[in-house]
Amino acid sequence: MTSSTTTVAETRNLCKSFLAVTALKDMSVGFQAGTVHVLFGENGAGKSTLISLLSGIHKPDSGEIIFDGRNVSFSSPRVARELGISAVYQEPALIPQLTVAENLTLGREPLKSAFLDRQAQERLARAALDRIGSKIPLSAFARDLSRAEQQVVEMARALQDSAKLLILDEPTASLTEEETEQLFKIVMRLREQGIAMIYITHRMAEIRRIGDVVSVMRDGCLIKTTAVPDVSDQELVELMTGRKVEALFPQKLLHTVPGGLELVNVSNDALKDISLHVRRGEIVGVGGLVGSGKSDIGKVCFGMSPLTRGRIEIDGSDAGPASPQRRLERGVIHYPSDRKKEGLISVQTARENVTLSALDKWLGFLRFIRRKAERNDADAILAKLSLRPFHPDALPSTFSGGNQQKIVLARGFTRPYAVHIFDEPTAGVDVGARAEIYQAMHGLAKEGAAVLVISSDLPEIVNLVHRAYVVAHGRIVGEFTGADLSEKTMLPYFFHEPEMNVQ
Ligand SMILES: Nc1ncnc2c1ncn2[C@@H]1O[C@H](COP(=O)(O)OP(=O)(O)OP(=O)(O)O)[C@@H](O)[C@H]1O
Ligand SMILES: [Mg+2]
Repeated sequence: MTSSTTTVAETRNLCKSFLAVTALKDMSVGFQAGTVHVLFGENGAGKSTLISLLSGIHKPDSGEIIFDGRNVSFSSPRVARELGISAVYQEPALIPQLTVAENLTLGREPLKSAFLDRQAQERLARAALDRIGSKIPLSAFARDLSRAEQQVVEMARALQDSAKLLILDEPTASLTEEETEQLFKIVMRLREQGIAMIYITHRMAEIRRIGDVVSVMRDGCLIKTTAVPDVSDQELVELMTGRKVEALFPQKLLHTVPGGLELVNVSNDALKDISLHVRRGEIVGVGGLVGSGKSDIGKVCFGMSPLTRGRIEIDGSDAGPASPQRRLERGVIHYPSDRKKEGLISVQTARENVTLSALDKWLGFLRFIRRKAERNDADAILAKLSLRPFHPDALPSTFSGGNQQKIVLARGFTRPYAVHIFDEPTAGVDVGARAEIYQAMHGLAKEGAAVLVISSDLPEIVNLVHRAYVVAHGRIVGEFTGADLSEKTMLPYFFHEPEMNVQ
């Protein structure tokens, strides 16, 4: 037997339920050395549950895990890690109040005569970041990092262990092409070293790019395991959904009406002289690398950060003070990319999370909230976005990653907002649900809203929007429409360097 066919880990008839929900049913699958094994399936199919069992976060209800030829049962993720199973989870799990260096060396702090050796700690942490080609400052607090940066740090942390099985749960969901390329290089190097990898992604192109084997899951069951070259994209989607899926992107019909969002020479800490506009009826994209300032554009429009210069107009008049509450009143809504930090309130139900930004809509006599109307409206919206399982009374944490995203998006459909600002709207959302979300965005534009989509997924921008901007180093470096709205034309602008010799 060659090393590439050695089974490193195997599950036999694994079952796991959460209260009334069966998350995993009789899952039997093997993971081979030197093989990138992709797990593909709709939101809620059970992918993260499978890896939570393999990495010691949850215990299976029944079934076996065989690792390195032995039947194992983990009491904690730490035990699994010590045996050689390392995982990067879908939701970053860094400790917010620790620095990047501290997070990277957590549990393996270098000591010098019983005291923490700060220099050695920095060295270890720097080496871990270098390995993945990241320049995130070691002294930054995890709480101040963007979701994508947190993911990069998590990745660097997992790669420090000498794992035999490395699990990556949607590692590229909010990374840009460049960071993704860097990650792929590492994955390929690890594959050559004979490490078994489980790679969860919703991006078809990634399956082709680095996957050797793909397992399709649906409703907690394994549908099929096959070599990647033996299956077409169309077949994969059909296996995943159990049905034929229409085109992912809707037709781009454009009918603009007066009004919308306009930024004129806007500057602040992160942005320099940004001028852009989104007319009502139009969908406009903003692309750029992590740290380029593209998310800051969304935040400044929603009043989450102040301007130092320039102005923002909504429907032709000044947007007023920088306050999210005031912007909501002006008809602007923002959907944050970090659903854990800024998006969802963990102690409120899915339904309450949908209605909280628009509660006044359901105010009745004596300012009592008309709960039944609120309930019906929220449920109709969640149903439209196909929340699965359809439990509007459950807390956000009980939903799979992609379904949590749908709860964030559902907020915008509670009332007719004038301006919708989406930051990474489909990170972690499965292909079927993405089609529904794109359809819904085009619906908003058709009804006369101005839609701004900030995304690190360039194909998404190119295929979804009417017009797009690229941001680099806090400035707009290009505007693209018609034939120029293409990956080939736009990508070079992502790497635009600021000019050094300004005359
Ligand atoms: N802690 C939990 N409590 C209750 N239900 C849960 C919990 N974790 C997962 N589930 C449920 O188990 C099912 C499988 O979820 P899982 O997170 O494994 O899906 P997934 O395939 O990773 O989806 P996604 O692509 O959206 O990340 C879902 O129905 C989910 O709602
Ligand atoms: Mg998941």
